[in-house]
Amino acid sequence: MLLALSAPLPGSAQLRGHGGPVRALAIAPDGRIAISGGFDHSGILWAIDQGTALSVLRFHDGAVNAVAALDGGRFVTASEDGRIALWQAGRPEPVEIFSDHAGPIAALAVSPDGASLASASWDGTAHIRFLAGGPVRVLRGHAGNVNAVAFLPDGRLVTGGYDATLRVWPLAETDEPPRIVQLPSPVNSVAVAGEGEIVAAGADSVVRFLSADGTIRASVDLATNPVIGLALSPDGRRVAAATVAGTVAMIDRGAAKVAFSLVGPGLPVWSLAFRPDGTELLTGGGDRLVRRWNAGTGEPIGSLSMPRPVDSLAAFKGDHGAEVFRACVACHTLTPEDGTRAGPTLSGVFGRRVATAEGYTFSQALKGLDIVWDARTISKLFEIGPSRYTPGTKMPEQTINNPDDREALVRFLERATKTP
Ligand code: HEC
Repeated sequence: MLLALSAPLPGSAQLRGHGGPVRALAIAPDGRIAISGGFDHSGILWAIDQGTALSVLRFHDGAVNAVAALDGGRFVTASEDGRIALWQAGRPEPVEIFSDHAGPIAALAVSPDGASLASASWDGTAHIRFLAGGPVRVLRGHAGNVNAVAFLPDGRLVTGGYDATLRVWPLAETDEPPRIVQLPSPVNSVAVAGEGEIVAAGADSVVRFLSADGTIRASVDLATNPVIGLALSPDGRRVAAATVAGTVAMIDRGAAKVAFSLVGPGLPVWSLAFRPDGTELLTGGGDRLVRRWNAGTGEPIGSLSMPRPVDSLAAFKGDHGAEVFRACVACHTLTPEDGTRAGPTLSGVFGRRVATAEGYTFSQALKGLDIVWDARTISKLFEIGPSRYTPGTKMPEQTINNPDDREALVRFLERATKTP
């Protein structure tokens, strides 16, 4: 997917790096690292408080529709390409790949004990696997796409599908059929609270709260805003519901009432995740940003809480090229002292051969190219996009369509990356 970069000044803490809508989000148990999945086929690991990208997870041949964070610095991506990849932070390639689905994967869930991973697929099945290995349990029965999965506290799995049913699957040992709950419209997202209440929502814009036996306790109507994502606050008191129309409703679960809505997230909002301490909500949307919000008030988190990348550009205030470079700053530094982020430092990049910056592990694809970086080649890189100019690169796809923006960017880089 090709998308033009615009260059607004970020007024709040935003994580900018994806070249397409941010489809999926999860936060590591320690609360410091987030993983996002994008329509640009990439996963990105973020140091949330620094606002920097730690690494780009490039492997999939399609949108990364779902992500999960495990303990021990392990992360999972699942894609439109039907594959699931397990990553260890710091390793450039997946440590394990699962290819047992026959269609795009739409959602992932980690079991309460952290030992199993469930996946929902448009091949009409959900799969449950022990991460330690062993046979995959295949759950068949939905008529059509399975869009959502979540575990109950006792380890049973709940799935939701395009066929407008929720299914609660007994544990593997029993041989019983699933309990089927018919709802009025296709289900896009499911979440489960600590004591086992199921939250489900989808095309009819209604968020429903129900028990595992199918009894509906309460519903919240979000009025003609199909829901595409749900997240429960860590204490279970709030449910954030993301909609196609770009609103995020923060629902008080007990009262089943909208407490407030977030104002101004990207259209549409595709993904949501609470930080484990409950103070912050992250959203990912059509504007290609991961945005941070105060989960108690709905206010955007201010840029002051994310000083580093923003500060490094403060010296270039008013320079249009520096504004364009804001699209790069999460992944690239300008000086050797600032080190590498997800991408190599651009210090000294002019006149340098591709993939030769010291202290950075480049992809094999980039190492095989015959390019020397200068104003013309860097401009070309973003005129036609990294995937065409440097095929196989790990850098997420992005183009800068306006020639003046490209010119300003390379003029800025020429000055800002000069080695002393
Ligand atoms: C989400 C992270 C990310 C963003 C955003 C990003 N890059 Fe990159 N960039 C990378 C990665 C990763 C590599 C190394 C690619 C590889 O090894 O295949 C890279 C490589 C490069 C290279 C080649 C460096 C070399 O030494 O060969 C240049 C030049 C570059 N990026 C410029 C930019 C510019 C300019 C922007 C903003 C318009 C930008 N990048 C945005 C991650 C990013």
